[in-house]
Amino acid sequence: MKKLFPVFLTLVMSVLMSMSAFAGVWRTGAEPNQSRWWYDNEDGTYAAGGWQWIDGNQDGTAECYYFDSEGWMAAGTVTPDGYQVNEDGAWTENGVVQTQAVEVQNPEPAAENISSLVVYFSKTGTTRRAAEEIGRLTGAGLVELEVADPYPSSYESTLSRAQRELNANARPALTTTIPDMDQYDTIYIGYPIWYGTAPMPVFTFLESYDFSGKTLIPFCTSGSTGIAASVSDIREACPGSNVLSGLRANDTSAIGPWLEQLGR
Ligand SMILES: Cc1cc2nc3c(=O)[nH]c(=O)nc-3n(C[C@H](O)[C@H](O)[C@H](O)COP(=O)(O)O)c2cc1C
Repeated sequence: MKKLFPVFLTLVMSVLMSMSAFAGVWRTGAEPNQSRWWYDNEDGTYAAGGWQWIDGNQDGTAECYYFDSEGWMAAGTVTPDGYQVNEDGAWTENGVVQTQAVEVQNPEPAAENISSLVVYFSKTGTTRRAAEEIGRLTGAGLVELEVADPYPSSYESTLSRAQRELNANARPALTTTIPDMDQYDTIYIGYPIWYGTAPMPVFTFLESYDFSGKTLIPFCTSGSTGIAASVSDIREACPGSNVLSGLRANDTSAIGPWLEQLGR
């Protein structure tokens, strides 16, 4: 992969284009880089060798991401030029994500969809990106599930806590509540695969509301595990609802065709 024009030009362009957002798409690498992100500008180029403002969910606010010379996004680190990026890859100063208003290139987002809701849990932002894409394409609102006792930033500690919670079939308390669940007939439920299934807080959520008669549409992201086992577990947790077979949505460009296939 090679970028077709130099990075300084990209940066100059992003300033000159009165902060027009690049209309591209986030992609993960092929194995063994499936948890690494790169940004396809969808014009034969990709972000590489420096910073790029990206409005991934086309909401008019861009965050700034750093890409190495091969095009991999930096995450949870200090960039070679000395700036902090968070686990989602966004440039932060004193813990605050730096943003910039940008022109939205898709002037006709889906009309607001008041009967669907996208609910998701995400530890490191991968599932959040998928959720945002579903929200953008369907017009459904987004709700992030947050646990009362947040997971540690260390991957290893998260693994051991998640393992304990799975073994105990725990229901970690959530701080997120959805007061008007009755108004939704379709709920997209997104999560990372943890030990083969959805994280336990997702089951806390599923058991906190009555989803009978509603359609639940699961989507997940994972290192490699498919979605099927988690969907079986969700069906068991919500016997009265119509749980669709769902999508592993690591590649956000697969979301549009999937929604179309579902007639959404
Ligand atoms: C506690 C834990 C357990 C995981 N278990 C699996 C697994 O069983 N199979 C898999 O393919 N990926 C597994 N992963 C990787 C995540 O599913 C993957 O990185 C996911 O895209 C992260 O989503 P997020 O950024 O929204 O948190 C695990 C990650 C963690 C932290």
